Amino acid sequence: MKSLIITANLELYESCDELPQDVQDLMDMASDARDCAYAPYSKFKVGAAVLMDNNEIITGSNQENASYPSGLCAERTAMFYAGAKYPDAKFVKMALTAKSMNHRVVTPIPPCGSCRQAIAEYEVKQDGPIEIYFMGETGKVIKSNSLKELLPLVFDNTYL
Ligand code: THU
Repeated sequence: MKSLIITANLELYESCDELPQDVQDLMDMASDARDCAYAPYSKFKVGAAVLMDNNEIITGSNQENASYPSGLCAERTAMFYAGAKYPDAKFVKMALTAKSMNHRVVTPIPPCGSCRQAIAEYEVKQDGPIEIYFMGETGKVIKSNSLKELLPLVFDNTYL
Protein backbone atom coordinates (compact mmCIF):
# COMPACT_ATOMS: atom_id res chain seq x y z
CA MET A 1 0.00 0.00 0.00
CA LYS A 2 1.17 3.52 -0.82
CA SER A 3 -0.29 6.79 0.41
CA LEU A 4 -1.76 9.01 -2.25
CA ILE A 5 -1.45 12.61 -1.11
CA ILE A 6 -3.49 15.15 -3.03
CA THR A 7 -2.84 18.85 -2.67
CA ALA A 8 -4.82 21.85 -3.83
CA ASN A 9 -3.37 25.13 -5.04
CA LEU A 10 -5.59 28.01 -3.96
CA GLU A 11 -5.11 31.74 -3.46
CA LEU A 12 -6.34 33.46 -0.31
CA TYR A 13 -7.18 37.18 -0.34
CA GLU A 14 -7.81 39.15 2.87
CA SER A 15 -10.81 40.88 1.33
CA CYS A 16 -12.49 41.71 -1.94
CA ASP A 17 -10.44 44.93 -2.07
CA GLU A 18 -7.35 42.89 -2.98
CA LEU A 19 -9.00 41.50 -6.11
CA PRO A 20 -8.74 43.03 -9.60
CA GLN A 21 -11.53 45.51 -10.32
CA ASP A 22 -13.32 43.22 -12.79
CA VAL A 23 -13.53 40.46 -10.19
CA GLN A 24 -14.79 42.92 -7.55
CA ASP A 25 -17.50 43.95 -10.01
CA LEU A 26 -18.36 40.30 -10.65
CA MET A 27 -18.57 39.70 -6.88
CA ASP A 28 -20.86 42.75 -6.55
CA MET A 29 -23.15 41.18 -9.14
CA ALA A 30 -23.12 37.91 -7.21
CA SER A 31 -24.07 39.87 -4.04
CA ASP A 32 -26.97 41.51 -5.84
CA ALA A 33 -28.11 38.12 -7.12
CA ARG A 34 -27.82 36.72 -3.58
CA ASP A 35 -30.55 39.12 -2.44
CA CYS A 36 -32.88 37.41 -4.93
CA ALA A 37 -32.37 33.96 -3.38
CA TYR A 38 -35.48 32.08 -2.37
CA ALA A 39 -34.26 30.41 0.82
CA PRO A 40 -37.16 30.24 3.30
CA TYR A 41 -36.00 26.86 4.63
CA SER A 42 -32.26 27.19 5.13
CA LYS A 43 -32.22 30.98 5.54
CA PHE A 44 -28.90 30.70 3.70
CA LYS A 45 -28.73 32.86 0.61
CA VAL A 46 -26.15 32.26 -2.09
CA GLY A 47 -25.39 34.35 -5.16
CA ALA A 48 -23.38 33.44 -8.24
CA ALA A 49 -22.16 35.45 -11.21
CA VAL A 50 -20.60 33.86 -14.29
CA LEU A 51 -18.52 35.88 -16.75
CA MET A 52 -18.38 34.38 -20.24
CA ASP A 53 -15.91 34.90 -23.06
CA ASN A 54 -18.58 36.84 -24.97
CA ASN A 55 -18.44 39.37 -22.09
CA GLU A 56 -21.95 38.52 -20.95
CA ILE A 57 -22.53 37.96 -17.24
CA ILE A 58 -25.25 35.64 -15.99
CA THR A 59 -26.22 35.61 -12.33
CA GLY A 60 -28.18 33.17 -10.21
CA SER A 61 -29.27 32.46 -6.66
CA ASN A 62 -30.41 29.40 -4.76
CA GLN A 63 -34.04 28.52 -5.22
CA GLU A 64 -35.44 26.25 -2.52
CA ASN A 65 -38.49 24.03 -2.40
CA ALA A 66 -40.65 22.49 0.33
CA SER A 67 -39.52 19.20 -1.18
CA TYR A 68 -35.89 19.98 -0.37
CA PRO A 69 -34.10 18.07 -3.17
CA SER A 70 -36.21 19.89 -5.75
CA GLY A 71 -34.43 23.16 -4.95
CA LEU A 72 -31.28 24.25 -6.76
CA CYS A 73 -28.03 25.94 -5.75
CA ALA A 74 -27.05 29.39 -6.98
CA GLU A 75 -24.11 28.08 -9.02
CA ARG A 76 -26.16 25.62 -11.03
CA THR A 77 -29.02 28.09 -11.46
CA ALA A 78 -26.54 30.51 -13.04
CA MET A 79 -24.50 27.99 -15.03
CA PHE A 80 -27.47 26.11 -16.48
CA TYR A 81 -29.08 29.33 -17.61
CA ALA A 82 -25.78 30.58 -19.05
CA GLY A 83 -25.33 27.27 -20.87
CA ALA A 84 -28.89 27.35 -22.13
CA LYS A 85 -28.72 30.95 -23.35
CA TYR A 86 -25.17 30.94 -24.74
CA PRO A 87 -24.38 27.32 -25.64
CA ASP A 88 -21.17 28.22 -27.47
CA ALA A 89 -19.70 30.61 -24.90
CA LYS A 90 -16.95 29.61 -22.52
CA PHE A 91 -17.16 30.37 -18.81
CA VAL A 92 -14.16 32.47 -17.79
CA LYS A 93 -14.75 33.42 -14.15
CA MET A 94 -17.29 32.70 -11.50
CA ALA A 95 -17.91 34.66 -8.27
CA LEU A 96 -19.82 33.18 -5.34
CA THR A 97 -21.01 34.72 -2.10
CA ALA A 98 -23.22 33.50 0.74
CA LYS A 99 -25.12 35.19 3.54
CA SER A 100 -27.13 33.65 6.37
CA MET A 101 -30.25 35.14 7.88
CA ASN A 102 -29.14 33.61 11.21
CA HIS A 103 -25.48 34.48 11.60
CA ARG A 104 -22.74 36.51 9.95
CA VAL A 105 -20.85 34.49 7.34
CA VAL A 106 -17.24 35.63 7.46
CA THR A 107 -15.50 32.57 6.03
CA PRO A 108 -15.33 31.76 2.31
CA ILE A 109 -18.15 29.38 1.35
CA PRO A 110 -17.04 26.87 -1.29
CA PRO A 111 -19.38 25.40 -3.89
CA CYS A 112 -21.07 22.17 -2.79
CA GLY A 113 -20.08 18.82 -4.23
CA SER A 114 -22.93 18.69 -6.73
CA CYS A 115 -22.06 22.15 -8.02
CA ARG A 116 -18.40 21.16 -8.31
CA GLN A 117 -19.44 18.22 -10.45
CA ALA A 118 -21.52 20.55 -12.63
CA ILE A 119 -18.65 23.05 -12.95
CA ALA A 120 -16.36 20.16 -13.90
CA GLU A 121 -18.66 19.30 -16.80
CA TYR A 122 -18.37 22.85 -18.18
CA GLU A 123 -14.57 22.69 -17.97
CA VAL A 124 -14.76 19.49 -20.01
CA LYS A 125 -17.26 21.04 -22.45
CA GLN A 126 -15.08 24.09 -23.09
CA ASP A 127 -11.77 22.27 -22.67
CA GLY A 128 -10.47 25.01 -20.40
CA PRO A 129 -10.38 26.10 -16.78
CA ILE A 130 -12.84 28.36 -14.98
CA GLU A 131 -11.56 30.74 -12.30
CA ILE A 132 -13.69 30.42 -9.18
CA TYR A 133 -13.78 33.09 -6.46
CA PHE A 134 -15.78 32.43 -3.31
CA MET A 135 -16.45 34.26 -0.08
CA GLY A 136 -19.01 34.66 2.70
CA GLU A 137 -20.90 37.86 3.26
CA THR A 138 -17.67 39.68 4.03
CA GLY A 139 -14.02 38.89 4.74
CA LYS A 140 -11.59 36.61 3.00
CA VAL A 141 -11.91 35.44 -0.58
CA ILE A 142 -10.52 32.20 -1.99
CA LYS A 143 -9.59 31.89 -5.63
CA SER A 144 -9.26 28.57 -7.44
CA ASN A 145 -7.73 28.74 -10.91
CA SER A 146 -9.69 25.69 -12.01
CA LEU A 147 -12.39 23.43 -10.67
CA LYS A 148 -9.74 20.70 -10.69
CA GLU A 149 -8.22 22.22 -7.55
CA LEU A 150 -11.51 21.81 -5.73
CA LEU A 151 -12.45 18.35 -6.96
CA PRO A 152 -9.56 15.92 -7.21
CA LEU A 153 -10.38 12.50 -8.64
CA VAL A 154 -13.23 14.05 -10.58
CA PHE A 155 -15.59 11.69 -12.37
CA ASP A 156 -15.76 12.79 -15.99
CA ASN A 157 -16.57 11.50 -19.47
CA THR A 158 -13.20 9.79 -19.84
CA TYR A 159 -14.51 6.98 -17.64
CA LEU A 160 -17.60 6.36 -19.77
N1 THU B 1 -26.30 26.32 -1.64
C1 THU B 1 -25.93 26.92 -2.80
O1 THU B 1 -26.71 27.68 -3.41
N2 THU B 1 -24.69 26.67 -3.28
C2 THU B 1 -23.78 25.87 -2.66
O2 THU B 1 -22.75 25.59 -3.24
C3 THU B 1 -24.04 25.40 -1.31
C4 THU B 1 -25.45 25.42 -0.89
C5 THU B 1 -27.67 26.55 -1.15
C6 THU B 1 -28.55 25.33 -1.24
C7 THU B 1 -29.56 25.61 -0.16
O3 THU B 1 -30.57 26.42 -0.74
C8 THU B 1 -28.79 26.44 0.86
O4 THU B 1 -27.64 26.91 0.22
C9 THU B 1 -28.39 25.65 2.10
O5 THU B 1 -27.73 24.50 1.76
